Amino acid sequence: MKGFIVPVLNILLIFVLDSNYVFSENQLPDNESELVFSSILFRHGDRTPEKPYAKDPYGNTSLWPVGWGMLTNKGKAQHYKLGQWLRKRYDNLIPDHKYSHELIYIQSTDVDRTLMSALSNLAGMFYPTQKEMWSDLKWQPIPVHTVPQHLDKVLSMNCPCPKYEEEYEAFKRSAIISTYNEKHKELYRYLTEHSGDPIHGPVHTEYLYSNLFIETINNFTLPNWTESVFPNKMYSVAAFSFAMPTMTRTLKRLKGGPLLKEIITHMKQKRAGTLSPNRNLWVYSAHDTTVANFLNTIGVFEVHAPPFAATVLVELRKSKTNDYFVSVFYKNTTGEPTLLTIPGCNAACPLDKFASLLSDVIPVDWDSECHAHQLFDLTSDQPYNSLAIFAMVTSTLLVFLLLAMTSLYWHKQKPTVHLYKKLNMETL
Ligand SMILES: *[C@@H]1O[C@H](CO)[C@@H](O)[C@H](O)[C@H]1NC(C)=O
Ligand SMILES: *[C@@H]1O[C@H](CO)[C@@H](O)[C@H](O)[C@H]1NC(C)=O
Ligand SMILES: *[C@@H]1O[C@H](CO)[C@@H](O)[C@H](O)[C@H]1NC(C)=O
Ligand SMILES: *[C@@H]1O[C@H](CO)[C@@H](O)[C@H](O)[C@H]1NC(C)=O
Ligand SMILES: *[C@@H]1O[C@H](CO)[C@@H](O)[C@H](O)[C@H]1NC(C)=O
Repeated sequence: MKGFIVPVLNILLIFVLDSNYVFSENQLPDNESELVFSSILFRHGDRTPEKPYAKDPYGNTSLWPVGWGMLTNKGKAQHYKLGQWLRKRYDNLIPDHKYSHELIYIQSTDVDRTLMSALSNLAGMFYPTQKEMWSDLKWQPIPVHTVPQHLDKVLSMNCPCPKYEEEYEAFKRSAIISTYNEKHKELYRYLTEHSGDPIHGPVHTEYLYSNLFIETINNFTLPNWTESVFPNKMYSVAAFSFAMPTMTRTLKRLKGGPLLKEIITHMKQKRAGTLSPNRNLWVYSAHDTTVANFLNTIGVFEVHAPPFAATVLVELRKSKTNDYFVSVFYKNTTGEPTLLTIPGCNAACPLDKFASLLSDVIPVDWDSECHAHQLFDLTSDQPYNSLAIFAMVTSTLLVFLLLAMTSLYWHKQKPTVHLYKKLNMETL
């Protein structure tokens, strides 16, 4: 009875508190509003296993069409199709229906499969018009920007952040994770024994799950030992691994925060008319972890493994009354995307409310937050780390100089005895 009353009370409460609730749950409340800007974040397409497991019967690269971790033809086709879909959805945002650098910016992580996915996607999105044709190819070059992995704070999220590492290590030792791992101890043991790889937690399980999954979609017959654990038992643990990197407020803020901050900044600039060039589209080509981290950071992640080409759309609309609303969509199938609602807001969330609801997970100064309490952090190549190293070397030199001067002073006090002794020692 209690289990029934509570949800009913909740629904009634929601009705009382927020009369838009039913409306906003399934659609944009104001269908007269005009779409003005969209940030598009996707995972790369179909790929080969990143690295075969130790006892992998299909671990010989000659069995695969392309090298480890590379985009396959199927992956290229997935993104080409997605690009065509995006073109349809955003055609109104594309002036003169052609490519322009003032219209769109594309950033990819510095990884072959994401760069290739971005290029395949753009081939579909900007299929050349007659005026854009420059050869027999039904293709035109579109620039894709990237940042080296170890400097990429926004997209690959691989730029070293000591504070994050510290928090994540502490989180992995927390009761919640120890209990979880204790519960799955037998599964890890079984997977370690049969795969030959050390499997000690959800992330390792996810790597192995992903290899087995890719082998099945490539029509390889999995070894018999997988029958009792693949896909179901392994999937739930693998899916959980995607929630882990952004489970706490600090983890969200330092991992997903920079991308969220950039997207919100662009939307605010768009509204203020200060986005320069005044672009309409911003594309991010990245990984399953990027998609999961972003969704979890904004509070809409349902535990699952984001499939190939999974896409998040963060759309900005302007109403008839000149108010700006943000809506988040998730397209993780080939069908239409799902409208998501961030906690505490409607599906069409006023831009300022969107930003303030999420302000807790947006870093003010990521670099200093990452290096808080780390005076001499040698893991990062941030400019002030060279400064720290410089300071360390300089102060060491100064100490030596001081010692040298002190000893010289003492030598001067008793010159003959000491000089004689020193000479003596040097001849030894
Ligand atoms: C907005 O929604 C209403 C009710 O669903 C519908 O009658 C109307 O045609 C829609 N307007 C636009 C521009 O789609
Ligand atoms: C992989 O397969 C190729 C072709 O069948 C074979 O020549 C090669 O020896 C194999 N490599 C390993 C490490 O088994
Ligand atoms: C796997 O088999 C199915 C059904 O026979 C086929 O449609 C598909 O193309 C195959 N996939 C690969 C990667 O060979
Ligand atoms: C694996 O399972 C299949 C079907 O259940 C069976 O025919 C085969 O003999 C098994 N192979 C091994 C090595 O146990
Ligand atoms: C798609 O996303 C929804 C919402 O996050 C999730 O519940 C579902 O499991 C996902 N499905 C796939 C195939 O990724």
